[in-house]
Amino acid sequence: MSSSFSNQSITAIVAATESMGIGLNGGLPWKLPGEMKYFARVTTGENPSSNPNEQNVVMMGRKTWESIPEKFRPLKNRKNLVISGKGIDVANATNTSTYNSVPSALNSLSSSSSSESRVFLIGGSQLYESSLTSIPPLVNRVLLTRILKPEFECDSHLEDFTCHEENGKKIWKKSTHEELEDWLGFQVNEENEEKNTTYKYEMWVLNDQ
Ligand SMILES: NC(=O)c1ccc[n+]([C@@H]2O[C@H](COP(=O)([O-])OP(=O)(O)OC[C@H]3O[C@@H](n4cnc5c(N)ncnc54)[C@H](OP(=O)(O)O)[C@@H]3O)[C@@H](O)[C@H]2O)c1
Repeated sequence: MSSSFSNQSITAIVAATESMGIGLNGGLPWKLPGEMKYFARVTTGENPSSNPNEQNVVMMGRKTWESIPEKFRPLKNRKNLVISGKGIDVANATNTSTYNSVPSALNSLSSSSSSESRVFLIGGSQLYESSLTSIPPLVNRVLLTRILKPEFECDSHLEDFTCHEENGKKIWKKSTHEELEDWLGFQVNEENEEKNTTYKYEMWVLNDQ
């Protein structure tokens, strides 16, 4: 990939069960308002600029875009990039562009977005799979919300990237909770419970960092 953005940090953010289930019937298997707030706070950043080119970026697959209720999309105060090989019309959505590949989306950022902006890959399974399991991975950080209990029924799963190895060495390592909070710039409970669901916030980074 030739984009200068490809040299910058790209963070995947995903919530997954212990068996790496992430979706059901085109949507999320759970409704966790606290976790949604965490997602919004992290991806928006603390003081979003009114200038779209200085806002954080959320990149998503076409099906994830379509899974967001119309009244909530585009995700506000963030630059929305939708990846669709066959093409999708997003002309009516503000601050939203569509690209037919991840490299072309990243290229567009290298010329338009501030290098201070954080880039988040927000799903779904197809986009996570290609960016987490490629060697080297396209993303260099994963914010993983581990849904511990209950084990929700899912029809979309991820490979367990945390176990991936190259030449006998684990590709990913788990950061401490303090390292997660440092990167976030705010404090957050590690373990959480809402609606009879327990989950914890984790951060994984490439092992060579
Ligand atoms: N738990 C979580 O954190 C989380 C987060 C996000 C989504 N999800 C769930 O994930 C599920 C959706 O995942 P999904 O895999 O079905 O859909 P997806 O990855 O959101 O979208 C798939 C579509 O995106 C386009 N696409 C993806 N990768 C591409 C690439 N490398 N190059 C070109 N186009 C690409 C293609 O669009 P075209 O067909 O238009 O070519 C493809 O059909 C839903 O259940 C959703 O709720 C869960």
